[in-house]
Amino acid sequence: MAGYLVDDQRKVTTHRLIQMKQEGKKIAMLTSYDYTTAQITDGAGVDVILVGDSASNVMAGNWTTLPITLDQMIYHAKAVVRAVKRALVICDMPFGTYQVNETEAVSNAIRIMKETHCDALKLEGGVEILPAVKKILDAGIPICGHLGLTPQAINKFGTYSVRAKEEAEANKLIADAHALEEAGCFAIVLEKIPAKLAERVASELTIPIIGIGAGGKCDGQVLVIADMLGMTQGFSPKFLRRYADLNTIMTDAIGHYVEDVKEGDFPNENEQY
Ligand code: KIV
Repeated sequence: MAGYLVDDQRKVTTHRLIQMKQEGKKIAMLTSYDYTTAQITDGAGVDVILVGDSASNVMAGNWTTLPITLDQMIYHAKAVVRAVKRALVICDMPFGTYQVNETEAVSNAIRIMKETHCDALKLEGGVEILPAVKKILDAGIPICGHLGLTPQAINKFGTYSVRAKEEAEANKLIADAHALEEAGCFAIVLEKIPAKLAERVASELTIPIIGIGAGGKCDGQVLVIADMLGMTQGFSPKFLRRYADLNTIMTDAIGHYVEDVKEGDFPNENEQY
């Protein structure tokens, strides 16, 4: 069945995602950062759209997710929310907006919710950020956690390689996941960790576990849209399945346009007033 033929057209809620896990139904999540792409993504049947801080890389060409600002994330999330009818929209809290203290975290979280009308927020980290997570949840804002490879901490770890391969880091990740569930998070993204560890976390927790490079036993999957559509180049991690080669399609189409303009073939008589 094509994704856009998803029969349940009701707006997806955090409660529905937990129900999907209980019913054994997989959750499909993708990133989007703009109106036009979000309209296509939503129409194609994706359950959750993440306005990821990967916008920093994909939309702005930065090397890391660190430089993107709160204002810029709000700009992207507003555009996405305007387009979406069915999917749950989650917005990433960017680096530096929730780590200083709980008061600053909750006031930034409230600003994102008020200005973008998105449905939920995502924060990277475990017990270190628990006070901020609790304060934001207390304000009635749903939170998705993010453990494993946490790109906002790239300068601390120095590499984007697979995380939690060693026992101590795996045990911390399991404890963090339980702490986030107990605090009241509605889902957790697990990025680039061994499949067996993700499977264990998914089986121990009642909230959905959404994997990226975390194997097939998670309750759902997420990918960066520009990667899965084959727009980005020079990024080919093992976990990435490319569903299209838009880079080639776009390059060919644009090259064709350039040729037509240069040769005076575009516009023709039917394409003018
Ligand atoms: O910012 C992002 O796109 C993400 C996904 C990789 C999960 O956090």
